[in-house]
Order: sequence, then C-alpha cells, then structure tokens
Amino acid sequence: MKAMIIEKYGKIPLKLADMPVPTIGENDVLAEIVAASINPVDFKIRDGKVRMLKKFNMPLILGNDFSGVVKQVGKGVTKFKAGDQIYGRATKDRIGTFAEYIAIDENAIAMKPKNLSFEEAASIPLVGLTSYQAFHDVLKLSAGQKVLIHAGAGGIGTFAIQLAKTMGVYVATTASKAGYELVKSLGADQIIDYKNEPFEKILHTA
Ligand SMILES: NC(=O)c1ccc[n+]([C@@H]2O[C@H](COP(=O)([O-])OP(=O)(O)OC[C@H]3O[C@@H](n4cnc5c(N)ncnc54)[C@H](OP(=O)(O)O)[C@@H]3O)[C@@H](O)[C@H]2O)c1
Repeated sequence: MKAMIIEKYGKIPLKLADMPVPTIGENDVLAEIVAASINPVDFKIRDGKVRMLKKFNMPLILGNDFSGVVKQVGKGVTKFKAGDQIYGRATKDRIGTFAEYIAIDENAIAMKPKNLSFEEAASIPLVGLTSYQAFHDVLKLSAGQKVLIHAGAGGIGTFAIQLAKTMGVYVATTASKAGYELVKSLGADQIIDYKNEPFEKILHTA
C-alpha cells in the first residue's frame, strides 16, 4: 500500500513509500482509509519531540486519526463487519493513518455519523477525545460553570468551544483578531485578543 512515512526524526518532508498492508490481530479490523486529519502531534512525532515519551520503530507511518471503511475483521471482533463506515483514533503504539490501510483495535473506532462526510468525520477523533477527556473525565464540568479555552480558533479550540457550549458551560476564549468571528460564531461568550489584552487580568477582574 502507499503510505506517508519517515525513516528518521527531523524537520524533513514525509516520504511517499510502498509499505506492506498491515495484518490484523484477533480484536482488530482492517480499515481502508478514506480521509485522515493532520494534527500538531504529527509534526511533533516527526520532529522527534515525543521521543522521550514514546519510542517508534522506523520506517514509521505517521497519522493519528481517520475515517474509512472496514474491509476485514479479526476473529474476536463483535461490533463491526466488512463494509461499515467508521472513524477513529489510532492507539499510541500503532499509529499510521497517512496510508491506504490501517489495522486497528475495534475499541479505537466507532461508526461514522451518517450526516458527516468522511472528511468531516476524520477531523474529529483526536480533537474530540482531547476536549471530551479534559471537560468530562478530568474537570468534570457541569452546566453553569465557566471555562477558559486558550487558542479558541485552533483545531482543539474550535471543537472545545462547541462541546463546552453543548454542556451548558460559559466559555471565555483567547483568539487573535483573525479568529474573532470564528470563535464568536461557535458560541464563545467572552473573547480575549491575546495579542493585545492580558487574559489573566481580564478574567480575574470579571
Ligand atoms: N489537535 C489535537 O488533537 C491536540 C490534542 C492534544 C493536544 N494538542 C495540543 O494543543 C495545542 C493546540 O493544538 P491545535 O490542534 O488546536 O493547534 P492549531 O490548530 O495549530 O491552533 C493553534 C492556535 O493557537 C493560537 N495561538 C497561538 N499563540 C497563542 C497564544 N499565545 N495564546 C492563545 N492562542 C494562541 C492560534 O490562534 P490565532 O489564529 O487566533 O492567532 C491558533 O489558532 C498544540 O500544542 C497541540 O499539540 C492538540
């Protein structure tokens, strides 16, 4: 299969290469990838900045989230069958969504919402999980509380603002002038231009 790989760490372009189609384990599905999104962590892995936390073998196929279609299922798979349209986030030890196929545990995928295109669905897993884990699992936010979301116009910020508003939370966010209209349209209650205003003073006196 075709895949975008690195052979060593560094700020260098990814290389288009022929790689073997991955073999599936008992609880894996083999997914044909339709769309994948690019996140800052992909650059950080390529640059070698994640080396202290996680060692990868080379050549390494980059990419963490994707949408696609199930082609084959392992013997232990119970929730998916060939032909299912799915999206998901590769586990940290088996990344590699910038490719034609990925073998992925069935617990790392879900059915693609029918009202989303493959491209839209592929943009969600990493930012969605990060935002959900932060608000739900760690902060245990509830309606009526307030949250500060830095970088509201970024990949994480745009998802996090919408999730927080869905949870009934008041959202203050930082954004430059260029991102103002975007974060406002997503429902931010208070927008702080981080280039010109000290967010910590504004929020502490609010
Ligand atoms: N993407 C993910 O799934 C994910 C998951 C876990 C962790 N993270 C981490 O979260 C961070 C943001 O990721 P991202 O995907 O949202 O990146 P991104 O899409 O590249 O967005 C970066 C945003 O940062 C804003 N920004 C830059 N300097 C700022 C400052 N001093 N104060 C406030 N905002 C500032 C910019 O806002 P303006 O355009 O308004 O200037 C830009 O919109 C990265 O460090 C990333 O590694 C990301």
